[in-house]
Amino acid sequence: MAPNVKIGIIGGTGMDDPDILKNREEKQVSTPYGEPSDVLVHGEIAGVDCVVLARHGRKHDIMPSDINYRANIYALKEEGCSHVVVTTACGSLREEFKPGDLVFPDQFIDRTHKRESTFYDGKEGSPAGICHMPMHEPYCPETREVLIEVAKELNLTHHCMGTNVVIEGPRFSSKAESKMFQLWGGDIINMTAVPEVVLANEAGLCYAAIAMVTDYDCWRDDHDPVTVDAVIATLKNNVANAKKVLLAAIPRIAAMEWKESIDGRQAAAKKSVIIPSS
Ligand code: ADE
Repeated sequence: MAPNVKIGIIGGTGMDDPDILKNREEKQVSTPYGEPSDVLVHGEIAGVDCVVLARHGRKHDIMPSDINYRANIYALKEEGCSHVVVTTACGSLREEFKPGDLVFPDQFIDRTHKRESTFYDGKEGSPAGICHMPMHEPYCPETREVLIEVAKELNLTHHCMGTNVVIEGPRFSSKAESKMFQLWGGDIINMTAVPEVVLANEAGLCYAAIAMVTDYDCWRDDHDPVTVDAVIATLKNNVANAKKVLLAAIPRIAAMEWKESIDGRQAAAKKSVIIPSS
């Protein structure tokens, strides 16, 4: 196993329970950006060091706008994670992305508007400078490749790419918004990908997502609009598939050589910071 690999797993709705880990140990941490969503649960998957964090808290009591995304990513980085693999429920903006399918998103469209989305906020204690992180390829292509390979081998219906429209929530979209997001090129829709993926890039981490389609949002005239009940029912039936992908992908990721990729990500993050002249 490459010695530099440790995998942070952020579990979304329906995946907030760290039961996939062996030899679990809880660790309460605090960061310069405040408290993460919950304790970090250290443990192993197939002998690989992992750290699980429930994005909405294990009681699912933190709404998307109130998640401390900075503390979550900072904490995983501090624990030595090289990768962050996350799960998330999402709505579908395309007929061919069906409830129950898995999606490995490669792009996002950001419609959030009240979230802290950079570590470089100019505040005392934060790193110096202003960070203009390139975002042409937000998700780690090598990590996505492993997830896709595994989904293929497990015969799970999946989509290798997808543009994720990220809304502020907590409300779902209006029909007009949903149709507009389709015209923009959105494939799926959720409330949490941004700023999580952005911050992972600032932190120089390899980040990839397993998105589970739970509903058709509300653009279909021939289909009921999304409700919480529908999301939860579909999740219950499909969460096992995301877990299967995680369990098979993690030892594969750990067996790969990541030095060049991680060095590249860290260098990209560093050179994106403009330090003010004195
Ligand atoms: N999460 C699951 N389904 C969703 C939807 N339709 N819109 C936003 N977030 C979601």
